[in-house]
Amino acid sequence: MSDSTWNAVDSYYGDLFIGADAALDATLAASAAAGLPPIAVSPLQGKMLHLLARSLQAKAILEIGTLGGYSTIWLARALPRGGRLNTLELNATHAKLARENLQRAGVSDEVEIRVGPALESLEQMVKVSHAPFDLIFIDADKETMAEQFGMCLKLSRSGTVIVADNVVRDGAVVDPASTDSRVQGVRRFNAAVASEQRVSATAVQTVGSKGYDGFAMLYVL
Ligand code: SAH
Ligand code: DHB
Ligand code: MG
Repeated sequence: MSDSTWNAVDSYYGDLFIGADAALDATLAASAAAGLPPIAVSPLQGKMLHLLARSLQAKAILEIGTLGGYSTIWLARALPRGGRLNTLELNATHAKLARENLQRAGVSDEVEIRVGPALESLEQMVKVSHAPFDLIFIDADKETMAEQFGMCLKLSRSGTVIVADNVVRDGAVVDPASTDSRVQGVRRFNAAVASEQRVSATAVQTVGSKGYDGFAMLYVL
């Protein structure tokens, strides 16, 4: 089994269960044309987030790491009328493109993009006692994931679900001596999660068009 098999299976299920989607396809095309890194969640992963949000009947969603807004669109489409999504992005160029992509997808009214370091935006939201989120997707820099998690807990309630992307990284996560700062960031996040009594956690390995990686899912008790 190899990447080509994983890609073929992702294409097979993508064609079957998702198909062409003008706004999402245009978002990926515009993101590639603008030179953004091709690291958005895969279509099937995006739909999983979407279905999770719908299952939870999430009315308030927080996303950390917007990029071109691909996962943002999947999540925003799950919102009921009056629902809100806050997404945090460090890079102003990414945020600008995301705004255009969200507009094209018809979800810009329910989405607020905050530009700046996620930890600062999170601090600000805690400071103004932002209402707790129903679903949180952590997908920005891996180096500060542990601190992001700490802030997310302050923006959670009992029942909030937190999903964190890229927690496997080709299996590198198991190497305590890794010199990759992203791997060390994920490991610090994992240690923080493991020692946090207020969450129940799992991690699922994935293969597909994004290679071999995985996500963690946390339930706030
Ligand atoms: N969720 C997106 C992909 C996000 S890629 C999707 O699946 O479509 C990660 C994004 O996090 C990048 O756009 C990067 O600029 C942003 N980022 C990196 N460090 C950050 C930080 N400290 N605060 C906020 N965003 C950050
Ligand atoms: C990277 C970040 C991501 O969010 C992702 O899904 C894949 C790769 C990265 O920083 O390399
Ligand atoms: Mg990711």
